[in-house]
Order: sequence, then structure tokens, then C-alpha cells
Amino acid sequence: MESFPHDKHVLLGVTGSIAAYKSVLILRRLMEAGARVTVVMTSSAQQFIAPLTFQVLSRRPVYTSLFDPSDEIRHLTLAEQVDLILIAPATANIIGKIANGIADDLLTTLVTASRAPMVMAPAMDGDMWNYPVLQRNLSVLDGLGVHIVPPEEGLLASGKEGVGRLAPEEKILSAVLSRLNRREDLAGETVLVTAGPTQEPLDPVRYLTNRSSGKMGYALARAARGRGARVILVSGPTHLPCPANVERALVQTAAEMRDAVHRYFPETTLLIMAAAVADYRPRLRSEQKLKKEASTLFLELEPTPDILADLRSERGDRIMVGFAAETGNLLKRARAKLEQKGLDLIVANDVTQEGAGFDLDTNIVTLMNARGETTALPKLSKAETAERILDEIVKLKAGSRPKDRTLR
Ligand code: C5P
Repeated sequence: MESFPHDKHVLLGVTGSIAAYKSVLILRRLMEAGARVTVVMTSSAQQFIAPLTFQVLSRRPVYTSLFDPSDEIRHLTLAEQVDLILIAPATANIIGKIANGIADDLLTTLVTASRAPMVMAPAMDGDMWNYPVLQRNLSVLDGLGVHIVPPEEGLLASGKEGVGRLAPEEKILSAVLSRLNRREDLAGETVLVTAGPTQEPLDPVRYLTNRSSGKMGYALARAARGRGARVILVSGPTHLPCPANVERALVQTAAEMRDAVHRYFPETTLLIMAAAVADYRPRLRSEQKLKKEASTLFLELEPTPDILADLRSERGDRIMVGFAAETGNLLKRARAKLEQKGLDLIVANDVTQEGAGFDLDTNIVTLMNARGETTALPKLSKAETAERILDEIVKLKAGSRPKDRTLR
């Protein structure tokens, strides 16, 4: 694990889940790592565990109320002092409140007043976890840059098996660490990310498309923003909210995506083409809905513009990164695309592998650079995969700009 940065103040928010007892262990681990930890508990958390336990272990007062006559603006002073807010366990209730800006107790008021980065580790019953409103709230928080450490599958307090168990301490600690150690290593860069599918209309109600949720591209946009870059996201149709502080241009077709990429390309220093662009489109688009008349319908298709390959001649010293979603012969096909499109890096995944590809929150990718060197990443969340892709890009940038280095 990375080392814990010196003298960091973490606010540990504990909410009313049966997993609240596990926050004691999280507190201990944070303290052992050298963090200063202030614990804030909601009133339902106190039904599960006493504030005294946290007070003794943190060697600091535990705060539970917004209304304490001795310190009227505690939520503001704490909000300014802390380097990170960790809410573990986070109930469906606290997630719903924070995602909707409700501030009706000390913890939620503090979150509203603070601009510190936030990590949340949800824990709840499987049915609650799958509740669509909860999932929508989580994607709102995700869009705002909150790092969600997803719960795991296993035996739940209800006696049922399902997803909802608080993530292991190790994972929560490592999320806290990576958030605290986050480098601004893309400051000064303008990163253009494409994401999602394109849709190529046949008629006013039908289109050809590729399967793509846009999650990988959105995770990259968010991660690049977190590392200090200006980020422009050119997105095909998705249901995802625009990540905070990212400029988004919405497009539908490959031709529109090409136009948007060309529009922003002069300002771009790093292009990441994560979009699943349709390779073919109908040669003719009917103005009227096609009628079900013939027993066989022949469609005539023509290739769409290859956005990446077309930019090859204008790229200058920009870093260009592409994606290759394959169903076999992964490395061979990825290498061919890398060469054909003149890329610095290609991110290849075999979408037939379990845990990789469309609509999932995880991915399994192999990175290949222009020297043919490959790095196979394990199954990771798309957020973590995005960070690893950016780590590789930062390395490539350092290597491609020797003038930036001081040679002795
Ligand atoms: O579709 P294909 O596997 O060739 O995509 C490889 C890379 O090329 C991806 O990064 C994709 O975004 C990009 N691409 C493109 N223009 C196309 C098709 C794909 O830029 N028309």
C-alpha cells in the first residue's frame, strides 16, 4: 500500500448501519497510519455503537450534534479543517440526503459546508442496494467526484446472501490513501475524452449503434479532472450525468463526434478516444419511417469517418490514446490498431471476459504502448482502471518530452 501522507486530518462519519462496529477498526487503521481522525456520528449510528468507543480510540471528542451551545459553528470549523471526509458505513439514507443536498444534522451540514474530497463506503441490505433510487443517488455522487467504495457480496445481516457488505478495511483504506495522495500531474493539460456509443440513423425512429454505456470514458474524464487537467468530454448518447467541472459536448453520430473532436482539437494536448464509434452507417437516411413491406430488407452501409486515423497528420506532439474492444486475438488486433492509427497507447479489452466491457462497473484491460510493451491490469473498478491508464499516460508524457527533464 502507498504510504500515508504526513499530518492529515480525516473526518470519519459513522452512520446507522449494523456495520457501524467495523468503523472502529477503520479508525484504528487510520490512527496507526498516522492520521488525525475526528469522528462524527449520526443519531442512528449511536443506536449501534457508543460515541465513547470512538472517543477513547481517537483521543478526541466525538461530535454528534449540530446544536451545542459551547461551539455554535462547529460544522463550519470542522468543514474547513479536514483534508478528507470518509463516511463508513454509509447508509441508503445518508447517500440519499447528500446526493440531494439535504443538511439536517451535523454530518450532512458539514458535508455541505466542506470542499474536502469525500470517500463513501456504503453498507446495507441487498434489496436496498439494488433500489433504483439509491443507484441513481450514487451516480449523482459519483458525478460529483465522490469516491464510492462499493459493498461486497456475501452473507448479510438479514441472513440473506447478496451485495451489501461493507467493503473490507483494506479497500477503504486504500481509497482514502489514493484520494489523499492524488497528484495534480495533469495540471496544465487539456484532455479531450470521447465516450459512449454513436447512433447512425436509418430513419426517424431507428438507428445502428454499438453496445457501450460510456462508463469507462466518463471515469477517465473524471479522473483526468481530479488530476488537475481541463477536461472536454465529447459524449455519444448515455444516461450518465456530466462529471463535475468537466465541459461536455453531446453528439449522436460519428460525423457529429468527428466535428466536435475537430472543433476542440486545436486546444487539446491529450486525446483519449474511449468512444465506441460505429464503423458503418446507412448510406441513405429515410425521412419517413421505413415500412414493413418487403420480405427481406437490404441495407446499404458506408464507412464512417475514422476520427483517430484522420487526426494522425495534425497531431503534432499531442499524446493520442485509443481503445480496442475485441472478442479474440486481443493483442494482435490491438497492435494492428495502434500502428494503423499511429497511437501512443491503446487500451485493449476482451469483452467476452467476465468482468470486462459494457455496462459493468469493472473492467479488465491490457495497455500497449507504441514500443509494443504491454501491461495487463487485473479486474478493477472503471475508476481505478482510469487512474492506471492515466498513470501510464503520465509516464509516456515524461518520456516523450526530454526537454522537460533536467539531465545531469
Ligand atoms: O472501432 P475500433 O475498434 O477500430 O476502434 C478503435 C479506436 O478507434 C477507438 O479508440 C475508437 O474510439 C476509435 N475510432 C475512431 N473512429 C471510428 C472508429 C473508431 O476514432 N470511426
